[in-house]
Amino acid sequence: MSKTVMNPDPKRIITKFELFDEYWTHKIIAEFNNQYVKLAKLKGKFIWHAHEHEDELFYIVKGSLMLKFRDRNDVNLTEGEMYIVPAGVDHLPVAKEECWVMLIEPKSTFHTGSTQTGRSVKTEDQEWI
Ligand code: NI
Repeated sequence: MSKTVMNPDPKRIITKFELFDEYWTHKIIAEFNNQYVKLAKLKGKFIWHAHEHEDELFYIVKGSLMLKFRDRNDVNLTEGEMYIVPAGVDHLPVAKEECWVMLIEPKSTFHTGSTQTGRSVKTEDQEWI
């Protein structure tokens, strides 16, 4: 049984964001249909990466986020907007100011895609909040 079903209380997203400060390390808040709902605080530039097999949903909770692409126009997202990066598409998230995002993606999705860097967090080290 998933943790979400075991703990069916409503989740207040804004309150969850108050539980952590680190940038670029997502926290898991729910699991359903083999997907995770994750929260992350972003600031600055991440790294170019692609998720070979998974589409990635970004929902902007606070601030704004630019998604840079190699094969299409950049996308500027502001609070309340969402965007789905298709599987296999190279993307570079850039947040000029602190940005809060909610991500929904398959549990198998690795946040730096097929790119391994010092900023990659191992799948088993992902934290629930
Ligand atoms: Ni990504």
